[in-house]
Formats: sequence, structure tokens, C-alpha cells
Amino acid sequence: MKSRILFVDDDEGVLGGYRLAMRGERTNWDFEFATGVDEALRMACENLPDAVVSDYNMPEKNGFDLICEFRACNATKDIPITIVTGIGEESLKRRALDQGATDLLAKPVDASDLISRIRNMLKLKSYQDTIKQQNAELEQKVLERTAQLERSRLEIVWRLAMAGEYRDENTGNHVIRVGWFSRLLAEAIGCPLDFCRRLFLSSLLHDIGKIGIPDGILLKPASLEPGEWEIMKRHCLIGSRILRDTSLAFQNLAAEIVLEDTQTGTDENPFLEMASRIAMAHHEKWGGGGYPLGISGENIPLEARIVAVADVFDALSSPRPYKRAYNESEVLGIMRPQMGLHFDPLVFQAFLSHLSEFQEVLQRFPEVEESTPRIENIRVR
Ligand SMILES: [Fe+2]
Ligand SMILES: [Fe+2]
Repeated sequence: MKSRILFVDDDEGVLGGYRLAMRGERTNWDFEFATGVDEALRMACENLPDAVVSDYNMPEKNGFDLICEFRACNATKDIPITIVTGIGEESLKRRALDQGATDLLAKPVDASDLISRIRNMLKLKSYQDTIKQQNAELEQKVLERTAQLERSRLEIVWRLAMAGEYRDENTGNHVIRVGWFSRLLAEAIGCPLDFCRRLFLSSLLHDIGKIGIPDGILLKPASLEPGEWEIMKRHCLIGSRILRDTSLAFQNLAAEIVLEDTQTGTDENPFLEMASRIAMAHHEKWGGGGYPLGISGENIPLEARIVAVADVFDALSSPRPYKRAYNESEVLGIMRPQMGLHFDPLVFQAFLSHLSEFQEVLQRFPEVEESTPRIENIRVR
């Protein structure tokens, strides 16, 4: 493809001189001519030139204005510009270069000199285009790689949540509904987007600690004895430990696998930290008396206060081996008196204001016998 050169001069005679000087280059280059800065910018935006040769001294806007306006426009900001200065305009050279001129040429212009300068500008433009292209390709690769990592993280979380679900075999789509409810509540009380997205995924793991509870207790079809109940309560601590294990064995593994590759390992993982807090505190109660720590009020992490409402709502609204699914008024009859006792009043108010959306989630992910929840359902918006 031919390179395009734009000449700018208020003097038609000078433009005619350029036309004549360039006639031997017509096979390689196309030429355009403008008599002022505004016209030049308009032509450049319509059909991007690869190089500009502009007079400095023009009546309305001068060569500096041309540089400023070209550099200010995203489409034209990288186009090389040579400024042609007249006799007595020597002092302008430094200023022109400071303003962003690529090169300077003194009048009277020598044709072969002009052609060499244009060739240099085109070389520069070609390097710039190559670098831009490479940057765009790199950015695309980074985006693809980030998406792959995000997908892989999502899959690991999802499969871990599924592992928990299979142990507690009657809960079906429970975790995914808790994820949606939690996110709805977090959005309703005005949590930042980052928090809402992180909560959506990390709340799926709230009961992962049940992996560590013996079948005889976890799947017991009757009420638990006090001793069994104490063991059942341990799922909070077990879940929290699974999600934030910092044992020496893990550190060695991380050093071996991660740090060796990147040398930029970090202990911080906001997602796992949140998931661990939820696993630990989702059975705590706003007014105290919950487990395993018996903490209350704002000492319970917000994410766990949110999951507490979501989890109880879902448990009451879904069929379990020991109970039928309760309808909305039955559920509210049980939950409402617990506002300020079991549930954070702020979160509970948000829950009451968004009941219709909660019902939609129940319809969308109904309890099924052979649950095969789909990973697509938890794609982060
Ligand atoms: Fe739990
Ligand atoms: Fe749960």
C-alpha cells in the first residue's frame, strides 16, 4: 500500500513546488495538499496520512498550532510532522521540537533533502505502527490469559463446592442459591461491586467444612444428640481451615510451584480470606448465642451476616429429608421475629425489600433429586 504524505502551506505556489518536487515519487507515495491547519486536520481525520510536511509561518494558525492540534487528536497524535521554517525563524527550531515536531527543514527547501526527510518520517511511522501492533497483540494475550485464569479459578471453586454438596447429598442447588441470595443482599445494601462479586463466589463454600463431618452425623435422619451436635458445629472451623490453610506443607508447595515460576508470590488472597470468614461465621447470630465463637453484632464479618440470612431463607424454602418446603409466609413467620436476634437488621430489611427476586432465584434453581448444577449459572456478571 502506498504511503500518504500531507503538505500544508498557505501559499499555493509553494504547494505547486512540492507537487513538482515529488513527481518522481508518485509510484511509492500519494500526496495531499492543504492551505491551512483546519483543512489539514479535517483531511487527516478523513484519511490518515503517514507523514505531514507543514509550513511554520501561516496567517491564521501556524505550524505550532498544527502540531498541537494533531497531537491532541487521538487519531493523528503519532503522525510524524516536519516543520518548514523560513529565514530568521531559527529560534523557533527548539520550540518546534519541544512541541512535538519530528523534524525541521529550512527554506528554501531542497527537493532531495525533502525526500530524505520524508523517508525518515515514514521509517519512524512504520516502527511506531509495528510497536502499536505488538502492544495490541500483547494486550489481547494478557486478556485471554486473564480470562483463562479466571475460568480456572471459577472451576476450582465450583468443583470444591460440588464436593461439599455431594457429601451432604440432599441439598441439591442449595449452594448456588445461597450465592445468588448473598449477592442480591450485598447489592441491596450498597456494597461495592468487587465485594458483591467476591461474595457471590465465596459464599458457595460456606458449608465446605461438612466434608470433615462423619456420615453418621451429617446424614443422620433423626435429631442429633448433644454430643453429635457439637461435632456438627465443627464444620465451621474445618471449612475455615480448609480455605485458609497456611501450614508448612502448603507453604512448601507454593514455593515449589508458584514462586519458582513467577517470583512474585503473595500471601494475600482476598477471595479465600472472605470464603474462610464466611465458613467460620455463617452460624453466628447478630444478638449473640450462635456458633462456633458466639460473637455478635458487627464483630461478625458482614459477609457472614449476609450469608446467614441467605442460608436460613434457603433451608426453610427448600424441601429437606426432615421437612417440606415452606411457603413465603411460613418462612417470614419464622424469620421475621429473628431480626435483630439472629439476623443483622440492615441485611434483613434488604431481604424483605427484595423478596420477589429471592423467589425468582428459587424458581430458577429448584431443588432436584439428582442435582447437576451448571457452572454457567455462576458466571460473574
Ligand atoms: Fe453451615
Ligand atoms: Fe448452607
